[in-house]
Amino acid sequence: MWLSLLSGLIGGAAFLFALYRWVIPTAVQYHGGLALLWQDVIVEHALDTLTRTSRPQRLLKEVHRKATVGDPQSVITAIDHFCKHREWAMNVGDEKGSILDSVVNEVSTVTVLELARLLPPGVSVITLEFNPDYSAIARQVIRWSGLEEKMRSQYCCPGAASGGSLDPSDEGAFRGPGVFLDHWKGRYIPDTKLLEECGLIQKGTVMLADNVICPGTPDYLEYVRNSSRYNSHYYRPHLEYTKAEDGLEKSVFLGY
Ligand SMILES: C[S@@+](CC[C@H](N)C(=O)[O-])C[C@H]1O[C@@H](n2cnc3c(N)ncnc32)[C@H](O)[C@@H]1O
Repeated sequence: MWLSLLSGLIGGAAFLFALYRWVIPTAVQYHGGLALLWQDVIVEHALDTLTRTSRPQRLLKEVHRKATVGDPQSVITAIDHFCKHREWAMNVGDEKGSILDSVVNEVSTVTVLELARLLPPGVSVITLEFNPDYSAIARQVIRWSGLEEKMRSQYCCPGAASGGSLDPSDEGAFRGPGVFLDHWKGRYIPDTKLLEECGLIQKGTVMLADNVICPGTPDYLEYVRNSSRYNSHYYRPHLEYTKAEDGLEKSVFLGY
């Protein structure tokens, strides 16, 4: 009786270990939906509860530990290393980051990092975030990179026009050659239309939309692909740090 109970316990423990160590990691490597459910809901929630910190706080700690102050490339390397080897986190990642660089390169002949460094005084790359804690952490990462003069992480309050994403009255600050869409997927269409209505997208403006396959933005894809205002091109990379398909859609605005 004791022997069968013990072997049952050992068998159960071995099964759970194999599930946690091999089966789930393999499944989430190849299935984007499972990856998001596992990494972004279950693991994040468990670690937040166990450590009483948030994922962005843990990521910032890693940046402080591994990256050099004033060296933005070391910050990106520290974040990619953390996300690949310690804890997956939803950021653009290395593979899609190279595509982002190449798209910026088409517009201005430099990479995102170079762009941020080369911008003339008073001109900046603006990132919008409606979670005040995340926005505060983004500002600290930017400060650690030494790019605070050139990059503004701007907190935007939820509940404002367009779910808090855009405040077009803000200094006309959003006028520029490119827009990177990477917020809640249901906001891609309304925010793009708002930018259009406010005249903040101009002939030649490049829209780059992340996650058009995972979690997916079918309505946005239908809009930009079928609109005579856009010339659209699909890139087929993987969801960050996995082998599951994701997509980036580059759409050049052709004019009103
Ligand atoms: C996928 S993450 C952005 C990752 C970031 N682009 C990167 O590569 O590191 C999406 C972020 O958008 C923010 N967000 C979602 N909807 C928003 C909105 N309407 N306005 C501003 N921020 C929003 C969320 O709080 C979340 O931090």
